[in-house]
Amino acid sequence: MKKQKNPPGLALRLRAAERLDALLKGANFAPFSSSEIAEGRDRALANRLVTTALRRHGQINLMLAKYLDKGIPKKSGPLEAILRLSLAHLVFLPELGDHSAIFLAVEAARKDTRSQPFAKLVNAVLRRAQGEAHQLRHLPHQALFPAALGPLWRDTYGEDAIEAFAAALLDGAPLDLTLKDNDPDLIEALGATPILADTVRIESRDKPVEALPGYAEGRWWVQDAAAAIPARLIRLAPGARVLDLCAAPGGKTAQLAKAGYKVTALDNDAERMKRLGENLVRLGYTAEIVMADALEWQPDEPFDAILLDAPCSATGTFRRHAEVVWHRSVADIAGRAVIQKRFISRALGWLKSGGTLVYCVCSLEPQEGEAHLDWLSARDDVQLDPVLPAELPGLEAAVRPDGTVRTHPGLPVPSALSGESGTLDGFFVARLVRR
Ligand SMILES: C[S@@+](CC[C@H](N)C(=O)[O-])C[C@H]1O[C@@H](n2cnc3c(N)ncnc32)[C@H](O)[C@@H]1O
Repeated sequence: MKKQKNPPGLALRLRAAERLDALLKGANFAPFSSSEIAEGRDRALANRLVTTALRRHGQINLMLAKYLDKGIPKKSGPLEAILRLSLAHLVFLPELGDHSAIFLAVEAARKDTRSQPFAKLVNAVLRRAQGEAHQLRHLPHQALFPAALGPLWRDTYGEDAIEAFAAALLDGAPLDLTLKDNDPDLIEALGATPILADTVRIESRDKPVEALPGYAEGRWWVQDAAAAIPARLIRLAPGARVLDLCAAPGGKTAQLAKAGYKVTALDNDAERMKRLGENLVRLGYTAEIVMADALEWQPDEPFDAILLDAPCSATGTFRRHAEVVWHRSVADIAGRAVIQKRFISRALGWLKSGGTLVYCVCSLEPQEGEAHLDWLSARDDVQLDPVLPAELPGLEAAVRPDGTVRTHPGLPVPSALSGESGTLDGFFVARLVRR
């Protein structure tokens, strides 16, 4: 029988390998959109392959170490991505069929001159994995996270944290929306469950975000339930001047506008600021938009409040960005903590006396959150304004005895309807007052 030049499924496999290859080189995960892969089932399959390879990255590391004595061959182009996708398929997505996993991997390797010499190796690795798939499916959950982070998380979040975080990683994140108005008809049309304040949760959906009810009319925006907490902790009268520092793509800007503040949104990333502008137009909110480097910019007059969502390691977002934990080194985290202090110092200088600074990061690392408190307590221009548990109805457990807020993917989220409704991104939030 004549071999087909482009067997069914190969084009999709190549697209998925290309996406995973970019992620292995440091890109951030974004699912394939309908403009990239028009057919819904193909798009879902490509996204499933890439997300499974990403979520199982640490366990796949163990498999590669076992089957490749000398590691991934140098200058082999997409070989690593092809192997990872196929191991993910073979071991964790058996319902897709073993044969296609091996066949498509070999064919994909043959399509690139750099990986083509290793096509036989691909076949050999995958045949071995096929024979051992049952054991591979039970590799330890500790391997799902980098060795440098696991012990630190255990110390910070308790013995059971790794198991809980692993379950959250493998489940992935639901879609959380912040509503402009709490309309029960809209919530029902969305198939959503109210969870906290104006946040609702959609557990599963078969449509892209843009096709959900109310999107085009600007009736809600996508925002994790934990990410919606910091802006709610600014409690000023409408009309107060509030700076959203590090604002793009604008989830918190929208909340501040909804609260009726006079908002200035500042960020230095042009692409992300474009999205912020588009989001505000869709939602019908306004803000003064400033494209500037926060480490150089100076306001004309001080603010009543500043929300500082500082650049951070983002390890708290691993449910939707499984790659982040593998992209960060311990030195990287320490470096970010230094920059965060510079942002905090500058922000304090832009506040009126008595003004509020809400500092937050979507990081699980105490170095980027709790550890800043020691440094802050040594300063005489600022003090902690403790958050009261009653300010976060339903999520009182996230408020620490010192009045800071800590969420993590092991913290259950209450749901008025179903008791518990999954987990949250990891966030640290501290509310401070300028003396
Ligand atoms: C955690 S994200 C902000 C998310 C945003 N607050 C939201 O809720 O949609 C951090 C932001 O900091 C911005 N950033 C990083 N360094 C900056 C700098 N030196 N000046 C201004 N913005 C900066 C990044 O472009 C990024 O958009």
